[in-house]
Amino acid sequence: MIHMKAIKKIYSTGKVDVEALRGIDLKVEKNEFISIMGPSGSGKSTLMNIMGCLDTPTSGEYYLEQEEVQTLNPNQLAEIRNQKVGFVFQNFNLLPYATAFENVEVPLIFKGVSLRKRRKRSEELLERVGLKDRMDHKPTELSGGEMQRVSIARALANEPSIILADEPTGNLDSVSGKEIVDLFEDLWKQGHTIIVITHDQEISTRTKRIIKLRDGMVVDGA
Ligand SMILES: Nc1ncnc2c1ncn2[C@@H]1O[C@H](COP(=O)(O)OP(=O)(O)O)[C@@H](O)[C@H]1O
Ligand SMILES: [Mg+2]
Repeated sequence: MIHMKAIKKIYSTGKVDVEALRGIDLKVEKNEFISIMGPSGSGKSTLMNIMGCLDTPTSGEYYLEQEEVQTLNPNQLAEIRNQKVGFVFQNFNLLPYATAFENVEVPLIFKGVSLRKRRKRSEELLERVGLKDRMDHKPTELSGGEMQRVSIARALANEPSIILADEPTGNLDSVSGKEIVDLFEDLWKQGHTIIVITHDQEISTRTKRIIKLRDGMVVDGA
């Protein structure tokens, strides 16, 4: 599903170039449940941004389900991203004035799905993450764990090939964090491919493979 060859990423914004990824070789099969660990600054978010087609590598090859990502232009990249990737972020990134329901609908609106189908699909998704009775609640009326479940429902809306989560439990207490991992595990059992960046050993031990990064290199789990 994912195949990376000698991926490098150099940020050259300030006075000095930062080599955030220094040659990543990685394969991920369909229906894996993986965690990515590593110290702060080791390149985890950079790697995830490239995997999710939010950013492109400076050099190297990246194949996502046969797509040669490094050859795509920004429009094609956005299309692949919308089709194939569901993102979950530490800060949830929900629309603050929209209900749970409306947040989940957003990717379906972009896709041009009809109102009736959107309603049905959003309802199913929120039910799947255990929030059937919270559909009309706004983020401020939800707990952190519930907000993260809304964002997971939204990530699932386009039936992505892969779900990428960057520190999804970083802003949650340990009980809600555990519930989020339970949910990822359920989704994995239903056939989803899930990659989670985490600092938390309790979370990474629940995944089926741990990839360790250090200084922009994979040091374990490739
Ligand atoms: N947009 C950026 N511009 C310049 N440097 C960046 C940028 N994003 C990340 N970096 C640098 O790249 C390195 C890896 O960062 P990052 O991928 O965010 O690591 P992690 O997620 O493991 O903490 C760090 O040295 C960071 O400062
Ligand atoms: Mg990071």
